[in-house]
Amino acid sequence: MTFETNRDVLEWYEKQPRTLTKEFIGKIDWSEVGKYPLDKKFVPVLLYMRDVETLTDVYYDELRRTPTGRDPIIRKFMERWSVEEQTHGELINRFLNEAGIETDPKWQKQVISSVSTSYTVTNYLITTLTNLIGKRFTATHMAFGAIHEMSTTQGYRRLVELADHPILSEILRGIIREESAHTTFYRSVARIELEKSEISRRLSRFIIKHFWTPVGSGAKSAEESNYTIATLFGGEGGMKWIDRNVSEKIQTLPGFDGLTKVTDKISEIVSLKTSTV
Ligand SMILES: [Fe+2]
Ligand SMILES: [Fe+2]
Repeated sequence: MTFETNRDVLEWYEKQPRTLTKEFIGKIDWSEVGKYPLDKKFVPVLLYMRDVETLTDVYYDELRRTPTGRDPIIRKFMERWSVEEQTHGELINRFLNEAGIETDPKWQKQVISSVSTSYTVTNYLITTLTNLIGKRFTATHMAFGAIHEMSTTQGYRRLVELADHPILSEILRGIIREESAHTTFYRSVARIELEKSEISRRLSRFIIKHFWTPVGSGAKSAEESNYTIATLFGGEGGMKWIDRNVSEKIQTLPGFDGLTKVTDKISEIVSLKTSTV
């Protein structure tokens, strides 16, 4: 899909019906969850994913204070996007409960309040910095978002394959459809913004090359983040999966030719985890 303007991208996004409607959720046979085995090793992965989805709200709050977040088109997208991410977190939590893993009724509040002070400070600095860079930051933010959405989608796709639990797969496929629409939005706006200026291209590439970290790291502990990545991508074909479905796609963005940051970072985590096991 190629779009001419950011407004075209938003119009496309708004035409996409929500996948995870009340009807969709109502049709999930929750009573079947406990009938299929769920390998315990995926529980921390699901908790991590649940928390990261939920923390979108914190991230969204910060972004609203940046020039990008004040852009009416991006803001409109983000209003719906942040609601969808909340649903993802809630569905994962419900799945865990149905699988016999209890969670605190106030888990959402706990997740948000457990975010470390250093994360809040870093976020504050990022907000301040982006306010200084101004509109030129839009391309970076959108490229960052595209990588986050793509890697999240691939994490879920991998989990469908590895956990092989029919009800979990049904839920995750619904989530994946929404993540794919998010990816299209971020990637398309990133492309439009990157095409606009050489400065944006250089700045975005520089920031991603030096500062990109997997989604959720910083907010969650490195241990939790690394465990999730190693569990999902440490096995056979995992790195190829990332390379083909994330890195190669990112490299098609203007100014991102040959950028291997995502593959490099993930493979660093995967080899670190496997060498310490
Ligand atoms: Fe999500
Ligand atoms: Fe998403």
